[in-house]
Amino acid sequence: MENFNFPKLLAALTLVICMSSGLSGQDIVLPSPRKTGGKPLMQALNERSTTRDFTKDELSLQQISGLLWAGFGINRPDIRKRTAPSAVNWQEIDIYVSMASGLYIYDAESNLLRQVHDRDIRSACGTQGFVAEAPLNLVYVADLTKCGKKEGDKVNDSDLFMPYADCAFIGQNIYLFCASENLGCVIRGSIPKERLAKEMNLRPMQRILLSQTVGIPSK
Ligand SMILES: Cc1cc2nc3c(=O)[nH]c(=O)nc-3n(C[C@H](O)[C@H](O)[C@H](O)COP(=O)(O)O)c2cc1C
Repeated sequence: MENFNFPKLLAALTLVICMSSGLSGQDIVLPSPRKTGGKPLMQALNERSTTRDFTKDELSLQQISGLLWAGFGINRPDIRKRTAPSAVNWQEIDIYVSMASGLYIYDAESNLLRQVHDRDIRSACGTQGFVAEAPLNLVYVADLTKCGKKEGDKVNDSDLFMPYADCAFIGQNIYLFCASENLGCVIRGSIPKERLAKEMNLRPMQRILLSQTVGIPSK
């Protein structure tokens, strides 16, 4: 027993468990979203507004889970459909989450944040000062291979009409969740897209549409 190394054994076991579950060590397992409660719809609509002043406070995992589920979570698991509609049921919008701890992609099916990398790229998510300081930026990315395109195809403006419409529904869901939970948000088109696409390691058929900053309002 002299050579028994408990930390090494624990690390090996964790690796085996992660590999068998498809999880990587830096993925974030979200708590189940709460699907009841919140403010009545008419009150949330009455309070929906844009915020551009945020504290530096982090959101809790419960808030992030609810936010993402409201945005584009699965609300009918038997038919894999979502809280926002999408043209032809393409479900082509991926929500990337940029936080101080790195960049993640929302995996709605597993209720996980899958880590893309561990760099803080919030400053690349927008051209306005508050973007780099707020705790969380959502980046809406259309995966055009889910809309019938192949890698290498030419992309016309008209190929983005439906993805932009689909994205707007998600953005409004996020606005309403924020109103309901006393969070603040702003949807933004002012994005340095070329720089951000590089920072996110996107493929050519993945197109950044809009971004949405979310945080605790400072007033
Ligand atoms: C498609 C779209 C793009 C927007 N882009 C930005 C932006 O880049 N920066 C910003 O501060 N606000 C942006 N906004 C927020 C609008 O300025 C805001 O919704 C508008 O002033 C109305 O205010 P309200 O949301 O409080 O009703 C955008 C809104 C939409 C719908």
